Amino acid sequence: MTAVGIDAMEIWVGNLELDLPGTFAPAQGEDPGKYTKGLGLHSSSFPDSYEDIVTMGANAAHRLMDRKGLEPEDIGRIDVATESAFDNSKPVSTYIAGCLEQVYEGDFHHANKGERKFACISGTQSVNDAFNWIKSGRSRGRSALVIATDTALYARDDPGEATQGAGAVAMLISEDPSLVELSTEQGFGSADETDFLKPQQQFPSVDGKRSMQVYLARMREALEDYEAIAEDIHPDSFAYIPFHTPFPGMVRKAALLAYRHTSRDTDVEDSLAEEIGRQPRESEFEDRESYEDAVREYTDALAETETYQSWYEAVVEPTLSISREVGNWYTGSVHIARASALRHAYQNDVDLEGKTLGVGSYGSGAQAEVHAEYVQSGWREEIEAMNVEEQLDSRYDLTFEEYETIHDAHNHDLDTDIEALTTPENEFVFDGWGRMGERQYSYVE
Ligand code: COA
Repeated sequence: MTAVGIDAMEIWVGNLELDLPGTFAPAQGEDPGKYTKGLGLHSSSFPDSYEDIVTMGANAAHRLMDRKGLEPEDIGRIDVATESAFDNSKPVSTYIAGCLEQVYEGDFHHANKGERKFACISGTQSVNDAFNWIKSGRSRGRSALVIATDTALYARDDPGEATQGAGAVAMLISEDPSLVELSTEQGFGSADETDFLKPQQQFPSVDGKRSMQVYLARMREALEDYEAIAEDIHPDSFAYIPFHTPFPGMVRKAALLAYRHTSRDTDVEDSLAEEIGRQPRESEFEDRESYEDAVREYTDALAETETYQSWYEAVVEPTLSISREVGNWYTGSVHIARASALRHAYQNDVDLEGKTLGVGSYGSGAQAEVHAEYVQSGWREEIEAMNVEEQLDSRYDLTFEEYETIHDAHNHDLDTDIEALTTPENEFVFDGWGRMGERQYSYVE
């Protein structure tokens, strides 16, 4: 059966940057350690006044198409995953296709376009949709463009303001992919939850602490579902585990849970038994509460072991490097975690071909998905071609006052006319409103 998966990816980072420990924490009267040690974040990326989900998505897709030598007729499907859409009817993919048609001769009139919504997991869902479309035989040899794009902004003084970010990831889903093949096995954990939502409002209502609990509960459920159809899994089954990363501190918690779960009844549990005992089994306890206390105690001890810490350093820590510099990208977040891992392997000359990634996606509301991906022979060239450092290094460093102004510029309830802080070059920009209230875009050389 032909392999289908991610052939190539590109990212587009918002052109501005907010230094969290250096600029944001002092202005909020907070200890910088909350960011560097607690949340695991150095900076957030922000959109300049001429940037939004369309410009960032179109810029990432343009880079990807140019690099792969693609024309619009090579693309049979454009799906956008976002939780920052500004239009309840016309999908963001049409705006992005309109942008791209300004710079290519052909058009996307025969491409099926859509928009996916399920909080941060919709990027992965769109990749799955593209995979299914190709596997079903309906693609006519064409590829799908999946774009995950978000401005993850929170209301001023909301606790979520600490974990903001903005950026887009464009992925090409094809047969015989160069980067990773997607497995057919998936595990889901899904329930009606109220942890993060935007009922007809721009900025989210979020119960951050609850969201962390829901993330862990749904991820565990997804892992159990995945185990039911995949072969026995072990902590060493995966070269890297990219998780959805609202902030790296969240992944620290998810990784520990995943390690405890996958090491149960394995040689890892046996070898740790002398040091920290065996994992508690519910049947050995009189009630649920004492069992849960024992699990907490075991988990705390596990986190301190050299065995766990060296696994985390090798398998999970490398997935966090981009996220630490850009904050939360919602739908794109798990995809930049994958890119971080592959970049780490490239920079450290790791031979990754044929190795397996375990991918843990999550969206509030809430759903988690666990699936495997197999690294393909062209991964090194693909990662080498991405310009992540260049984009991160060329961002404009905001003062706190500029941050306040730019936050207002993106607030849909405020009527502002704010000068851009950077000068766009070779990119799509937002340049005003049309007669029906549509946003309009142009390409700036
Ligand atoms: N040194 C070291 N660690 C510190 C610290 C310091 N000086 N100050 C705080 N910390 C730690 C805290 O102990 C905490 O870690 P823990 O969770 O392991 O206990 C972490 O830093 C965050 O501090 P906290 O006081 O809990 O921050 P907060 O009240 O501002 O809330 C979030 C943090 C993440 C809950 C909040 O930013 C939020 O809601 N973000 C949005 C999350 C989201 O969007 N979820 C939906 C998508 S999954």
